[in-house]
Amino acid sequence: MPAPDTTAFGPGFAWGVATSAYQIEGAVAEDGRTPSIWDTFCARPGAVDNGDTGETACDHYHRWPEDLALMGELGVDSYRFSLAWPRIVPDGTGKANEAGLDFYDRLTDSLLAAGIRPNATLYHWDLPQSLQDRGGWPERATAEAFAEYAAVAAARLGDRITEWCTVNEPLCVAWIGHLEGRMAPGLTDPVAAVRASYHLQLGHGLAVQAVRAASPGPVRIGIVNNLSPCEPATDSEADRAAAVRADGHINRWWLDPVLGRGHPADMRAEYAAHGAELPERAGDQAVIAQPLDWLGVNYYFRQLIADDPDPAAAMPRIRQVPGPGPRTGMDWEVHAAGLEQLLLRLTREYGARRLLVTENGAAYPDTVRPDGSVHDPERARYLTEHLAACARAAEAGAPVDGYYVWSLLDNFEWAYGYDKRFGLVHVDFETQRRRMKSSGRAYAALIAAHRAATARSEGAGTAPAGAPSRP
Ligand code: IFM
Repeated sequence: MPAPDTTAFGPGFAWGVATSAYQIEGAVAEDGRTPSIWDTFCARPGAVDNGDTGETACDHYHRWPEDLALMGELGVDSYRFSLAWPRIVPDGTGKANEAGLDFYDRLTDSLLAAGIRPNATLYHWDLPQSLQDRGGWPERATAEAFAEYAAVAAARLGDRITEWCTVNEPLCVAWIGHLEGRMAPGLTDPVAAVRASYHLQLGHGLAVQAVRAASPGPVRIGIVNNLSPCEPATDSEADRAAAVRADGHINRWWLDPVLGRGHPADMRAEYAAHGAELPERAGDQAVIAQPLDWLGVNYYFRQLIADDPDPAAAMPRIRQVPGPGPRTGMDWEVHAAGLEQLLLRLTREYGARRLLVTENGAAYPDTVRPDGSVHDPERARYLTEHLAACARAAEAGAPVDGYYVWSLLDNFEWAYGYDKRFGLVHVDFETQRRRMKSSGRAYAALIAAHRAATARSEGAGTAPAGAPSRP
């Protein structure tokens, strides 16, 4: 597979890797951390494959220096990770936990010393259980508590962390956690789901304000959505209408309000038909639509959508149809063109000024060979194809300013437990031994090649063609 031409990315482009707290840290009961909704969900029989939990995960809480050294081997510019709310404000509101903050302090200082820019996510799904006990995201108080916690984090770390994300994939929290019940807190309640979606957006807006107010200097802050182009499975009118509904549910519901367009009217009507209304108050829309410095896109697959003629079908009435492309270990279709499509849509339709591909990657059933190596050419090909898609989008004018592989390490893949391996680095969960996979080496080579090409063009005194504009 030839290396993609990445000259369109420009010199400031961030090559990165991503993780999240619950998926790698372990140490769930150390230094004052309290249980999160994921600790509770994992304890529910049958909720997570093999009964796996995040109790130890990659033991990153203790082994982070080793993980930082692996990032050094990859040569990344930036590390996207999340802060665990139950470590920092263990009761959800009120007193901050110094020991929890100290952990992120040490990590941040060490990243910066290694020349790696931190990009910190405030919420990657590990709500303190105490807040869930008080109603969780369906309640407005959770959005307010989120802003309090965001202020604590920014006050302590905002002198060194200047790139922030409020919420990772609010769709998963609201729709998968509260409507489909496949993730924590495991509810199947349309009314709770729509209320949760609204309070996640309100919490995002309040947190943007809080981080800006609490940080001593300028920061760049955004939100990360998992987006998918939604294509009708056939040309029938019913399937085309279903694809519009899917686009509303998956993309527009999450983009429109935060980008100042309000909640899409067709989806409000769709949800209202299930008794789910927005718990709106005057002034909320302006809070939700805070100006942002960047938009994050997590891309894994497109959606081929058909109508679901069953009037009792779930909200919204759509069926996903498998696409024809090759599939990853998650049974997700590989379709790199979908990423290019999304980046261009965000640029042309939503006027995005800075885009980060905050997650992209694939699970495959990697094994360790007798010589200790892990050979995963499918992942390397996946990454190369998706980077080529980003480069085409950048060439066509999309302001793509970074790309983060999901994930640095094999880790706890939520309801799938440890069987789904997304890492550039293999983790033996019995021994915690890390091994760089061949895809990790391939990614390091792409980064090095981009750097060399950038240095050459800078030396020649010319900016690379199509360099994205900076905010
Ligand atoms: O592991 C997850 C991550 O937590 C959020 N985005 C998708 C990844 C793969 O499923």
